[in-house]
Amino acid sequence: MLVDTGLASLSGDFIGRLEAELDLEDLRWIWLSHTDADHIGNLNRLLSAAPNAQVITNFLGAGKMGMMGVGAAERLRLLEPGEVLEVSGRRLHQVRPPYYDAPETMGFLDSDERVLFTVDAFGALLPGMVGDIAEVPAATLREGLVGWSSIDAPWLAHMDGMALAAILNHLNDLAPAHVLSGHLPVARGIDGLTGIIRSAYGRGTSDAVGPEHIAHIEAAIG
Ligand SMILES: [Fe+2]
Repeated sequence: MLVDTGLASLSGDFIGRLEAELDLEDLRWIWLSHTDADHIGNLNRLLSAAPNAQVITNFLGAGKMGMMGVGAAERLRLLEPGEVLEVSGRRLHQVRPPYYDAPETMGFLDSDERVLFTVDAFGALLPGMVGDIAEVPAATLREGLVGWSSIDAPWLAHMDGMALAAILNHLNDLAPAHVLSGHLPVARGIDGLTGIIRSAYGRGTSDAVGPEHIAHIEAAIG
């Protein structure tokens, strides 16, 4: 299964790297998280190059692809809300990330391997290419995550902080071993990522209270 198809402008590099990893005749599934240009850009090329692949999406994703003239209706596998998809013995549970930029957005939890795909959520603007998230200093990661989320999901700033904290707690409870984002290297565990978003936007307990909050509270109570 391939997750998303990258930017059309990077087509040659993307398809070449993919062919180096697998025989495209063997590709059976393409999980399409949403229909933004950087996720759907090579879909038509891949459907030609991978004749046995079906595209996993939902009702709205299929509708938007139809309007854009992308994909092929007979090769769509539409997931119903809440449906669990079995792929090569793996059970993929649909997950709506805590923030996103397109309403058809559909991530997943592989409940056996405990791999969580959060689509655009937990993406970060970073100063350069990194292969491993461990290479990114904590302050850079925080700044990058908050910067990305404020651009990609500006409504986060208007969201009820307690409601957001509850959603982030739920993600922590899923206890994923690995977190895949479309815009961040693979992360081990999720608590560090949810903690950053919670402290930036949420009003929950635990690590929501950072030094700047303590200074604010001390100033307020005199
Ligand atoms: Fe997006």
